Amino acid sequence: MRAHAATSVAATKPQPLPAGEFGYSIEDFEFIATTLYEDAGIHLPSTKANLVYSRLAKRLRKLGLESFRDYCSFVGSSDGADERAQMIAALTTNVTRFFREPHHFEHLKDRILAPQLKDIRSGQRLRIWSAGCSSGQEPYSIALAILSLLPDARAYNVRILATDINVHVLEMARRAVYTADEVRNVPVELRRAWMEQAGSGNVRLDDGPRGLVTLRPLNLVGAWPMSGPFDAVFCRNVLIYFDEKTQMRILNRLTSLIRPGGYLYLGHSERLVGPAEALFKIDGTTVYRKLGGVEQ
Ligand SMILES: C[S@@+](CC[C@H](N)C(=O)[O-])C[C@H]1O[C@@H](n2cnc3c(N)ncnc32)[C@H](O)[C@@H]1O
Repeated sequence: MRAHAATSVAATKPQPLPAGEFGYSIEDFEFIATTLYEDAGIHLPSTKANLVYSRLAKRLRKLGLESFRDYCSFVGSSDGADERAQMIAALTTNVTRFFREPHHFEHLKDRILAPQLKDIRSGQRLRIWSAGCSSGQEPYSIALAILSLLPDARAYNVRILATDINVHVLEMARRAVYTADEVRNVPVELRRAWMEQAGSGNVRLDDGPRGLVTLRPLNLVGAWPMSGPFDAVFCRNVLIYFDEKTQMRILNRLTSLIRPGGYLYLGHSERLVGPAEALFKIDGTTVYRKLGGVEQ
C-alpha cells in the first residue's frame, strides 16, 4: 500500500490535530487508520487522531524521525514491515483484568465444567479459546475457574488456547507476573493455591494455571490455523473495535469452530450481528449458545 492512499475508513469530520514535537497531518492519520483497518480490522474514527499521535510519538522518537509523513512513508515501504506490526500493536487497546464480568466464569463452571467433570476425568477433551487475550488475565481466570473444580486438570485433556495480535501483551502473558493490585479480584483461596511470590510485591501464576494455557499470536482477520471444535470461546471486548462487516465475518468463523451446544462469551457492550444470530440462542445477556446440531 502507498503512503497516504486514504480510503473512506477515516473520512469523517477531522478534529484539530496536535501541534507538537512531530509534524502530523490529516493525511498521515488517514494513512495510519487505513493501514490499521486493512491489517487488523480495527476501525479508527477521526476523533481518535490525537490518540494516534500520542501512542505513536515514542515510535517516531525511537526511529529518529521528525514527522509522521516520514513515519508513514517508512511503514508503507518494503523495509517497514516490522514497524508496521509495531504500529498495529501500539494502536491496540489492551485493557483487561482478572475475573472481568465474573458471571461468565460462574456460567463456565456451572454450565460447562460441572456437568462434564466425570467425562473429563474419563478422558474427554475440553477446549476453550480466549480470542483477544491481551496480557493473560482472561485465560488465566478461565484456568483458575477450571482448577477450582478440577485441581488436577493438567492430568486430563484440558487446554485453553489464548491468542492476540499484539506480541507484546502475549509476552506479558507468558511471564504471568502481576501486581498485588492486578490480582485483587482473584478469590483469596485461588491466589493461595495457584500463585507464588515474584518479588517487589508481585505474584506469578504457577505451573497449574500456566500449564493449561497455550499462548499464540493470531490476527482475528487473518488465517486461523486451528480447527476446533471449542466447548467455549471468550471473545470479549474485542469486536467493539471492528466495523459491523468485520464483526459479522468473525462471528461466523467463531461459530463454525464452536461445538454444537458450546458457548460464546462476548463483552458487556457487545452483541451478535448478522446471520450469526441464527446460530445461537441467547442464554443470559452476553452468553450465547450454539444450537445443537447446527453447523455452518
Ligand atoms: C480490550 S482487550 C480485551 C482483553 C480481554 N478479552 C478482556 O475482555 O479483558 C482487546 C484485545 O484484542 C486484541 N485485538 C485487537 N484486534 C485484534 C485482531 N485483529 N486480532 C487479534 N486480536 C486483536 C488487542 O490486542 C487487545 O489485546
